[in-house]
Order: sequence, then structure tokens, then C-alpha cells
Amino acid sequence: MSLRSLLTTGLLAAGALAAPPGYGGSTVTVTVTEKASCSASTSHSTSHSTSHSTSHSTSHSTSKASTPKTYATSTPSSSHSSTSSTLTSSSATSVTTTTSSAANTNASTTILATATSTSYGLNDAAKKAGKLWFGTALDVPGTGEAQDPYYIAEFDNIHDFGEATPANIMKYEFTEPEAGVFNYTGAEEFFTAAAGKAVRCHNLIWSSELPAFITAPTVPWTNATLTAALRRHVTTLVEHFGDRCYSLDVVNEAFSDSPAGAYSANVWYNTIGPAYVVEAFQAASDAVRANNLAVKLYYNDYNIEYLGNKSYAAQALVKDLKNRGIQIDGVGLESHFIAGETPAKAAQQANMEAFTALDVDVVVTELDVRLTLPPTVASESQQVVDYYNTVAACVAVPRCVGIVVWDFDDTYSWIPGTFPGQGYGDLFLQPGGANTPLVRKAPYDGVLEALTGAAEAN
Ligand code: XIL
Repeated sequence: MSLRSLLTTGLLAAGALAAPPGYGGSTVTVTVTEKASCSASTSHSTSHSTSHSTSHSTSHSTSKASTPKTYATSTPSSSHSSTSSTLTSSSATSVTTTTSSAANTNASTTILATATSTSYGLNDAAKKAGKLWFGTALDVPGTGEAQDPYYIAEFDNIHDFGEATPANIMKYEFTEPEAGVFNYTGAEEFFTAAAGKAVRCHNLIWSSELPAFITAPTVPWTNATLTAALRRHVTTLVEHFGDRCYSLDVVNEAFSDSPAGAYSANVWYNTIGPAYVVEAFQAASDAVRANNLAVKLYYNDYNIEYLGNKSYAAQALVKDLKNRGIQIDGVGLESHFIAGETPAKAAQQANMEAFTALDVDVVVTELDVRLTLPPTVASESQQVVDYYNTVAACVAVPRCVGIVVWDFDDTYSWIPGTFPGQGYGDLFLQPGGANTPLVRKAPYDGVLEALTGAAEAN
């Protein structure tokens, strides 16, 4: 199905239909320009206060020489005024369509994606496009989403999700809460919940979600003692998880945004220096080889989704590890984007190709596209374009082997808790709240089209 026919059948109206009260569009006119992207430069830095203590900062700055194009959204509905915004675009495909409120109402049985749907979905389309899977992060066990039957039924829908990433339960504070005392209970429950899907195990060494024995040691760490603790953690988990992991994120978010590409200060860097990253990969590589495992070893980060100093630093890391004979198989491009500030398809593709030229795979590992709340017709429409461009970039790069969203349901998204005032970033929502049926949002169909269009072109 082409983007034009997808749009004209009214499927793209899913977002409008699904929008809860006060959340925008009853009628949407969307122009999708494949390479459209904003040239804005923004930066955000927030700490969030969930039960997991961590902080995440995101910023990106892109500058692209290209021809300005007009990206327009408008609605004849009295509840919305017409809007338009000018984006920087190198322009390729441009498709326009209109859906109406009446069409939305009439098409409601088509638009609603019930949790038990067995129709062709994102994972099916990803495989047809030559990818390993389309997947999602989820925060189970022990959370509200784990208890939500509608959410779990959609997660179990293999037509949409062929891969699962644990959002938290494999992180250091859960897997080694006390020095040398490993707890696999949650991780094992995750593997059980993800049965039948590939699992990207996430993550071994990071600056956040660390146990107290690492962050507040009774005896201050030295380079030697912390390196030994790091190696024990990595080796033990690589061996315990083994090939039940398709891949392991060995080191997460080592590089800074300020200055971009420098190492971030954290307990590992402050005590061991940049060698901590090499030590972690060396330990993982040794364990993989000693046990003849197939698990792939990844470096994972954000703001490395477009060419710039942070991406160059990650590329240099890949080269350094390979020069040392240490195994690294892939780079995870987190892709926590903001509607209207997402790098263009061409920029993402060029960046992916810079990594794959180093003989590693890439995966879009944590995709979501957040909006300033409440959504508007313009921001929802831009969100569709941004999802489309990201997925289309991966489709265009053979060694971009898969795409993973950082959860699929707004009800359980990490975004509102981390970036106050922002949200609405996922592919589904529950208009009735937790424990009620899910509906697909417009970006679902943008993603499907990016996957399906490529399958037709191949
Ligand atoms: C986030 C989880 O989604 C939250 O539940 C948790 O409180 C903090 O971590 N980059 C990563 C992920 O690599 O591990 C982070 O996950 C999101 C940013």
C-alpha cells in the first residue's frame, strides 16, 4: 500500500480518532514530505523522579543545507485553526491527503487496533523489509504495565513486536544489588514474558540505576578495585544470560553532550578514566569467546543519530575496540526525538552508514517522538513525519538490522516523568486509561508505511 493510499483510506486518521479529550485533531490534513526535518537546535536537561534514580539529558543540533519547503497541517474543524510551518527539507516524496470527521467515525472499526489483532503488523513488515524484527522496550515485571491485560495482549502480538528490551530490570541495581550478590529473579521473569521474541539485553555498565555499593562505597574505590567490580559484573551477566540475549548493551551513554563527544563524568570515568569502556568490552568479549557465545555486543547512546562530535566519538570507540581485537558487533542509536527536531531521513541514513562502514550493525534502540503537551494538529502531523523518517532511514541501510520503540503505549511511557510538559510520544494510547483497550495512533501507520514502502521497492 502506498503512502497515498494509506492516507486516503483514512488509516492515518487513527491519531485524530484516538486523541483523548483536549488532545487535538478531530480532522487532519497531512502533507508528508519524506525528507522534511526541522533545522532547529535545542537542548534539554532534566532529572526525573521515578523509583529509578537517574537523569537523562537530550540535545541535538542539526544544520542542513537544503531548500525550505512548506509542511502544512490544517483542519476545517471549528475546534482548530489552520496551521502551517516551514521546515528545511531536501524534498523527495510529497503526498497530500485529507480525512474528515465523518470518515473517522465511519472508519472506526478499521482504525481501532484491538489488543487481540492478528493482522499484518510492524514486525511482519520489518521482516519483509529485510530486518530481523520490530520490537519494543517494556518495564516488566513488577509494574502496572505488567498487570494490564490489554497492554500485555498487544505486547504479545507477534505481528507487531518480535523483539523485547527490558526497560529497567537488567540494570545494575537490579541484577547485582549488593557486591557479588546477583539477583536474576526479575530478569528471568522478563525472559519468560518475552518468550518467542528476540531480547536486546540492556544494559551492563551505565552511570544510572546503580546500587549503593557502587555509588556510596564504604571503602573508597580505587582504579583497581572498581575495575575488578566492573569486570565481575560484566563477566557474570554475559555468562548467565548467554545466548538468550540477541545482543547486550555492554556500555550505555558514555559520551557527553557538553562538550559533545567528551566522556561523561560518572563513577566509572571518575575512578578508572576512559579505560572503563575498554575494560567493560574486554570482559564481555572474553566471556563471549570463552563460552563460544553468539550474543552480539553493543555500545548504546543518544544524540549519536546524526553526524556530529558525539557520533564521531562513538565511531572512534568502535575503531579503537576493533584495533585492540575486542569484540563489538553493533551500535545502538537510541532515537529519543522531539517532533519537529528529529534529524532528516538523509541525515540519519548518512550517520547509520558511517557506523556500518566500520563493520558494525546498527539498531534504532529506543525510538520515541515526544511532543509538548497538549498535542496540536501540527505537532501530531510532524510526529508522523519524524517516525516515518527514522524508520525509513533504517530501512534504507542494510546493516540497520532492527527498530525498537521505547515502549509502545503512552500510558506507560517514561517521557512525562522525565521531560515535564512533554509526552504523547508512543504508537498507541488507551483513551480510557490503564486496563482499557489500546488504540493505534497516527504514527503507527507512518511507521508501517516506512516499512511497507521499502518492502515494495525491494
Ligand atoms: C529509562 C527507563 O525508561 C526509566 O523507567 C528509568 O527510570 C530510567 O531509564 N536511555 C536508556 C534507557 O538507555 O535505559 C533509559 O530508560 C532511557 C534513556
